[in-house]
Amino acid sequence: MQTKIEKISAFSALAIKNIHGIEDEVLDFLSFREKLSYANISHADKKQEWKGARLAIKEALDCISLPYPGFFKDEHGKSHSMNDYGYVSLTHTLGLAAAIFHRDMPVGIDLDFVRDKVIRLGPKFLDPAEIEFLNNDHLLYTIAWSVKESIFKCQGKKGISLRQNILLQPFTKDDHVVHGKIYGSEHIDHHYQVQVEVENDVVLSYTIW
Ligand SMILES: CC(C)(COP(=O)(O)OP(=O)(O)OC[C@H]1O[C@@H](n2cnc3c(N)ncnc32)[C@H](O)[C@@H]1OP(=O)(O)O)[C@@H](O)C(=O)NCCC(=O)NCCS
Repeated sequence: MQTKIEKISAFSALAIKNIHGIEDEVLDFLSFREKLSYANISHADKKQEWKGARLAIKEALDCISLPYPGFFKDEHGKSHSMNDYGYVSLTHTLGLAAAIFHRDMPVGIDLDFVRDKVIRLGPKFLDPAEIEFLNNDHLLYTIAWSVKESIFKCQGKKGISLRQNILLQPFTKDDHVVHGKIYGSEHIDHHYQVQVEVENDVVLSYTIW
């Protein structure tokens, strides 16, 4: 997937970063706590992905002229800005990282490669009604997975099941926006719209408003 920095509005931006060749990029903008977290990652690939995601959020913030506030993780693993300003979501996978920021709205973002095993995993994350319209298609399954992960990250709390609590409306490969809802949890139903972009074998999805 192509590297890009996109200003979505005056209050929101996203960045996708190819994480090969970022070794020389500096992380001096990180907070003290983030520098510690980074230093504690022992696995080289994980370290590179973590770095890529922070460089991506820095680029997204630069694009809308906001300073990097530093981010901390809550007990669910979701990142929050240290100055309590805005919402962020991060994702990283083999060779790629991405981040999205919005000043006023919670956000979720996800990157995934289309893989054969996604169909076998279907019953673990899909409702029977979704399996019906996904037609055993690898790309559609990967989009469904990615969209559910974006919705999950947008709401942020553990305990929400992709299969039992997130339901997608039927969609096709031509649709760039997928609609879904969180239901059957302790909270009232909440509806989401998720933007989908496919490039070669990579699916990017992120919540929109
Ligand atoms: C947390 C989860 C969304 C992470 O997704 P992933 O595909 O493993 O990894 P990604 O690279 O896309 O995202 C990782 C980022 O998600 C963010 N994240 C972690 N927990 C989060 C949460 N509860 N809410 C929002 N964002 C979260 C973090 O920023 C993390 O990056 P970091 O560790 O560098 O800070 C995923 O592990 C998960 O729990 N999914 C839903 C649960 C589920 O039902 N899974 C199995 C179904 S078969």
